[in-house]
Amino acid sequence: MKQTLIIANWKMNGSILANSKLLTGMLKFSNTANTELVICPPFPYLHQVKEYIVGSNIKLGAQNVNENNSGSYTGEVSADMLKEFYCRYVLVGHSERRSLFQESNGIIAKKITQAMDAGLTPVLCIGESLAQREKGDAQSVILEQLSCVINDIGLKKFKSVVIAYEPIWAIGTGQTASPEQAQKVHRMIRQYIYGLDPILSKNISILYGGSVNEINAAELIKQKDIDGFLVGGASLKPDSIETICKLKI
Ligand code: PGA
Repeated sequence: MKQTLIIANWKMNGSILANSKLLTGMLKFSNTANTELVICPPFPYLHQVKEYIVGSNIKLGAQNVNENNSGSYTGEVSADMLKEFYCRYVLVGHSERRSLFQESNGIIAKKITQAMDAGLTPVLCIGESLAQREKGDAQSVILEQLSCVINDIGLKKFKSVVIAYEPIWAIGTGQTASPEQAQKVHRMIRQYIYGLDPILSKNISILYGGSVNEINAAELIKQKDIDGFLVGGASLKPDSIETICKLKI
C-alpha cells in the first residue's frame, strides 16, 4: 500500500532561527507519524534543514528547479544541485510559479525531465482558477495540464511523478475545497490515468493542496482518491503539521 505523503511547502518564509524552532518541533513527532513527511524550504535553507533531519524519517524537497542542466541562468538552481543537497523531491508547476513566473506546461515538462534525470521525484502541481471553475472549465484545464506533460515526457517517465491537485481559489485563502469537491476532481484525475495505464492509476499518489489545516485534513484524507497533502500555511505551525501527520488513515 502506498504511504500517505505530506509535503510541507514553506514558500518564501523562514529564517535560521524560525526554522530551528519549527524543525525541533517536527523532529519530536516525525518518528511516530504514520505518514511520509517532506519539507520544502527556500533554497538557502536546504542545508540547514538537511542537518536537522539527518537520521530521521523526514525527507527533503525543493520548491522549484530550472529546466536546464547548467550554464548562464543567473539566479537559477539545477536538479543536480538539489540532488547534491540531499533533496528527494521537487515541486514543479506550482500555481504561483505558473502565474507569477509565467511557467508554461512546456517548461514544466522540461523541469520534470531535469528532475527525473537527476533522480528526484517531481511533484507536478495542477489546478484551476476560480474563473475557470465558474465557467465549467475545471476538468478541461486540469486534463490539459496533465496531458501536456504526459505527451511531452512519455508515460514511462510519468510513472515516477507525484500529482498535487491544488485549486488556485483554495490556496492561501482559507477556503478549502470541500471533501466532496476535492474527491470529485481526484477521481477524475485517477480515471484519466486509468485510461492510459490501469496499474499506474492505482500506484500514483494524488495529493490535495489548498488551505489544508489540522481541522479540515481529517475529512479530506478519508476520501478514497486523496493520498496526502501539499500544505502551505499550516506547515509553518508545528502543532498543525503534527496533527496532519498523525491523522488516522
Ligand atoms: P496553503 O498553500 O496551504 O497555504 O493554501 C498550499 C500551497 O500553495 O502549496
